Amino acid sequence: MRGWGPKGNLGGETRRREVRIVGEDNQRMGDDSPHGRRRVRYQGTHPRRYAERYKELDPERHARELEKVRARGDTPAGTHRPICVREVLEVLDLRPGDVGVDATLGYGGHAQEILPHILPGGRLFAIDVDPLELPRTEARLRGLGFSEEVLVVRRMNFAGISRVLPEAGGGLDFVLADLGVSSMQLDNPARGFTYKADGPLDLRLNPNRGRPAAALLSTLSEAALTDLLVEHADEPHANAIARALHGQPIATTTQLAHLVRRALQTTVHEATRQQEIRKALQRTLQALRIAVNDEFRVLEQFLALLPVCLKPAGRVAILTFHSGEDRRVKKAFQAGNRDGVYERIARDPVRPSAEERRANPRSSSAKLRWAVKAGASD
Ligand SMILES: C[S@@+](CC[C@H](N)C(=O)[O-])C[C@H]1O[C@@H](n2cnc3c(N)ncnc32)[C@H](O)[C@@H]1O
Repeated sequence: MRGWGPKGNLGGETRRREVRIVGEDNQRMGDDSPHGRRRVRYQGTHPRRYAERYKELDPERHARELEKVRARGDTPAGTHRPICVREVLEVLDLRPGDVGVDATLGYGGHAQEILPHILPGGRLFAIDVDPLELPRTEARLRGLGFSEEVLVVRRMNFAGISRVLPEAGGGLDFVLADLGVSSMQLDNPARGFTYKADGPLDLRLNPNRGRPAAALLSTLSEAALTDLLVEHADEPHANAIARALHGQPIATTTQLAHLVRRALQTTVHEATRQQEIRKALQRTLQALRIAVNDEFRVLEQFLALLPVCLKPAGRVAILTFHSGEDRRVKKAFQAGNRDGVYERIARDPVRPSAEERRANPRSSSAKLRWAVKAGASD
């Protein structure tokens, strides 16, 4: 697989040049920065590290390069590919004039697809807790022509979804939630969501609130950490991982990864060791992320508010990415169905097509559940 990069411009010279990684400030700098800084350098034929992917991080200026990255089945850094778009649109059954909430705006991929279906006359309230990515997404969507009249962007937690009701006319025709983290958050080492690059062990969706994962980890007993790994990520090696992490000074993602690798080196069979360690690392970060952002509690609050927020015949679609999320959504919808709040619910979750899973491996674990509130529409 060939990557894109300045090979064509620089030829063999690229390989001889030293790697020069720039910091966060320069990450979105193009190759002809107004500050007169030099182009980001990288070793080999194409960029690997986040900071080197300056073209991907400036999608408006380098649209063709982004298409090439997507054609390889990768997600360009600084962007996010919406999952199950066709299926979500089908479930939400949008009409012109509909008013709804995208509870997890992210890159705005779903929002961008929803908006044309509710116009004219409709309005989308788009919310997200992330103060870093939200302004970028809003600027991008405004640039596509969505004015404040049709798209209202708010930085808030979806646990407080009912706060949009007064502005939304008292009830919603639809709600979408695409849980978890965006590719932009995942890929940016400074956010601490990935073990693949060195960064602070943070994992906060809103870095201005709460405490980073490193601080949480330092307060947990070995038993509490074991429970957390089991309850939040069904981690089969919870005991060994908790033993290895407990009492250690861990400030960065690579320190955590080193300790987990070392712990599983002797306990996991050699034939599957690398894959098992990779999965254990993903699950460990997931468990910590859920704890740091109190994700299960806010999801339960959101699920409890949905019946109050939806109009009669209102539709809700929720994309989940692991069993802890899916179980909660399934239970809430089943209970609502039993109580007559929801007249119809998904019997089984909708899964991304084989084609989508191939084109976007990050979609592989997605499950889409939906429900329709009882009562006739206006
Ligand atoms: C998977 S991404 C959404 C991607 C989006 N659907 C798109 O197409 O670009 C999940 C987003 O939800 C946000 N998020 C997670 N939990 C949240 C919460 N409790 N309230 C509001 N936003 C949340 C994250 O910050 C992230 O931006």
